[in-house]
Amino acid sequence: MSAEQAAGVTLTGISKTFGDFTAVQPMDLSIPQGSFFALLGASGCGKTTTLRMIAGLEQPTAGRVMLGDRDVTSLPPHRRPVNTVFQSYALFPHLSVQDNVAFGLRRRGKKQVHKEVEDVLELVELGPLARRKPAQLSGGQQQRVALARAIVNRPEVLLLDEPLGALDLKLRRQMQLELKRIQTEVGITFVHVTHDQEEAMTMADTIAVMNHGRVEQLGAPAELYESPGSAFVANFLGQSNLIAAEISAAEGDELVLRAGDTKLTLPRDRMRATSAASGTKVLAGIRPEKIAIRSRSDEAAVPEGHNRLTGTIKDASFTGVSTQYVVASPWCPELAVFAQNVESAAGLTPGAEVVLHWNPAHTFGLDGDQDADAGTGEDAL
Ligand SMILES: Nc1ncnc2c1ncn2[C@@H]1O[C@H](COP(=O)(O)OP(=O)(O)OP(=O)(O)O)[C@@H](O)[C@H]1O
Ligand SMILES: [Mg+2]
Repeated sequence: MSAEQAAGVTLTGISKTFGDFTAVQPMDLSIPQGSFFALLGASGCGKTTTLRMIAGLEQPTAGRVMLGDRDVTSLPPHRRPVNTVFQSYALFPHLSVQDNVAFGLRRRGKKQVHKEVEDVLELVELGPLARRKPAQLSGGQQQRVALARAIVNRPEVLLLDEPLGALDLKLRRQMQLELKRIQTEVGITFVHVTHDQEEAMTMADTIAVMNHGRVEQLGAPAELYESPGSAFVANFLGQSNLIAAEISAAEGDELVLRAGDTKLTLPRDRMRATSAASGTKVLAGIRPEKIAIRSRSDEAAVPEGHNRLTGTIKDASFTGVSTQYVVASPWCPELAVFAQNVESAAGLTPGAEVVLHWNPAHTFGLDGDQDADAGTGEDAL
């Protein structure tokens, strides 16, 4: 297993139209060599279609696919140094684990495969099970055989289409860490397709968030989470509170916003709308875990300079590690607040008058002309 063969993937103006439906809008995407890259988005947004164009299983309507510095757009799948692991891993049931893994090598006329198969089975920690048949393995073990079967061919790029979809939650979590370890060890470029934001954030170096056939935002997981560029990304990746507001003034590095009669402060460099002029409508975003909640009677304890909103608790659900509150304020009907269960939450029950506050540095500003609920719908699950 060596890293020197990894290739980056460059998509230039690539698009795919089926009849009069455009599944992938013209897209430029650069996937760095050796990276773990995730395509994340709701069902039907064009993830698999994009992956299939990289694999050569789908011919793009327009645009080019480059692997490293080679243009592979017109090459058939088997001539591309790419392997794909699908959700249904379709192992050969009559072959043992080691023969499943050796299959691709033998088909290419390779005679001495034992060492390579042994090495890759060790990598996926299946050495002791090499002689078993797929039916004698757990779901997670079968998934690792599928992975070994793809990796043994030493592809320059490994494409993974929801490879953990068939596994239960606990096993999926475990396999996420495994996949990340394997990718680090082999150094191959991984392009991973998923609709599960937690999965993408756990494993990927870079995530491209797709929405209706377009890449809506691209970046490192923490960057996307802390500084989403649109309501869709803010809602699809984790949960956000988006408060309708208006810019009322600019003071040095800060913008002063008004939401009803409440003043909020937003760092100027966290403003994603094109205009920062007074009167511009914005959505002021704040993640639920960044907000502190306290009783109105305790308002004096709110640190100086914090953004603050008053409201009434509508709902409080205890989840063990945290309590999740829904707070109604005049400027936002449902604010989500996640409070770690460190202190006693005495008095923070439905109906209680509360003050919410947070460090203004955590606020992000989005263009006000978009649907604040984008990315929250059923299709986003
Ligand atoms: N061969 C085809 N003919 C017509 N439409 C297609 C074809 N393949 C895909 N589509 C459509 O293109 C869109 C994108 O499909 P794609 O499989 O890329 O979605 P996806 O993001 O992978 O979704 P999921 O998470 O459900 O797998 C969908 O609306 C789908 O119905
Ligand atoms: Mg798909």
